[in-house]
Amino acid sequence: MVEAASETKVKVDLLISPIGELATPYVESGPARGADMQNIRQVHDAAIAVKDGKIVHCGKRDDVLSKIQADEATVIDASGKLVTPGLVDPHTHLVFGGNRHQEFAMRCQGKTYKEIADQGGGIVASMRGTRGASVSDLIELGHERLKRLIEHGTTSCEVKTGYGLDKTSELNMLEAIFELDKMQPVELTPTFMPAHAVPPGTQREAYVREVIEDMLPAAAKLAEKKGFPVNEIYVDVFCDDGYFTLEDTRQIFEKAKALGMKLKVHADEFASLGATALACESGADSADHLLAITPADIDRLSKSDCAAVLLPGTSFFLNLKDHAPARTMVESGVIVAIGSDFNPGSCHIFSLPFIMGLASLKLKLTAQEALTAATMNAAYAIGRGASIGQLRTNYQADIAVWNVSTVAEIPYNMGWNSVAQVVKKGAPIL
Ligand code: NIG
Ligand code: FE
Repeated sequence: MVEAASETKVKVDLLISPIGELATPYVESGPARGADMQNIRQVHDAAIAVKDGKIVHCGKRDDVLSKIQADEATVIDASGKLVTPGLVDPHTHLVFGGNRHQEFAMRCQGKTYKEIADQGGGIVASMRGTRGASVSDLIELGHERLKRLIEHGTTSCEVKTGYGLDKTSELNMLEAIFELDKMQPVELTPTFMPAHAVPPGTQREAYVREVIEDMLPAAAKLAEKKGFPVNEIYVDVFCDDGYFTLEDTRQIFEKAKALGMKLKVHADEFASLGATALACESGADSADHLLAITPADIDRLSKSDCAAVLLPGTSFFLNLKDHAPARTMVESGVIVAIGSDFNPGSCHIFSLPFIMGLASLKLKLTAQEALTAATMNAAYAIGRGASIGQLRTNYQADIAVWNVSTVAEIPYNMGWNSVAQVVKKGAPIL
């Protein structure tokens, strides 16, 4: 007679054990809204077991160890340490040439973003630096920046074009993003954003026509050629005074949708033109910035699946008095995410732990809400909520190990980097 086989143990390739405190946003099906943003599952004396890049077991250490076979696994000892999901940055402009340190100095002397842009600075200044760079220069610059993002715990990141502002240069930026996605571990979500500013010497109406008739179809074609699914690419528009109108945004959105691309919008950063309502109606995955959002638009967002991506680094770096009304949004049930907006002008900050500090100080989010906003909700804002942003069985093993013992210490330590180790798809990358 054959004895019943003992319970089969999964053979794992990475084991993080022991863990001082495992902390992850958790809702049965995300994203988190309202009081759920505060809901962090905390497990002391925990472990995470990973196989083929995915979490197979995570929770109490004894329980995890009883279900796995880890003889050949890489082991990370996180005793006394905090372990969270890898951070997700849902809004960056990290591919650009040149820098704009002079503008920072001008702002410190009291000049506003608009005054600096009117004097030839702003997005157009980075357009010159970016057009002067080859695709391989852009890749090299982006690669160096991405290495620094990893050091600060970012494991996935959205990246926009928008400093080319003509067909060739915008496509060069998009190509650089596709290549960067393949060559290094941070997963990139590409966003095509030729409607970031009107290039000098061009009429806005003519430029918008070119974006719609020529540039968007060319971006879709480039994606196909490079083997990147077109339906995973976003199109974004800077809908604001002096940039693009609500009607421009609507027309660009229509074309993007017809090509199968997804939508985001820079909305209500300086003026409220109606872009947030348009984002909700059009099925955009996020409306970003929202400093000047109206109460009616907060209400619209709360009834929609469109995330609010708040960027407290930008209001801080622009030295603005006001920040987005984050507390009202959380309490109204809006899906609130945070991102860096890392770019050469309005926010030369890429560190999400620092942004979590600003989210606590300036947006009045709790440390727990800030963690949810920079992981689970950020993942939803880039269409990845079903696979990243949580420490949970079957989720991708994207993990940050911290030199602190609890979540509240992340924003508190905003001035030094407390990230100890980073794991991407089950592989240690820091
Ligand atoms: O998100 N608002 C528009 N775009 C960027 C600014 C980019 C720049 O100044 O280069 C932003 O803040
Ligand atoms: Fe931006």
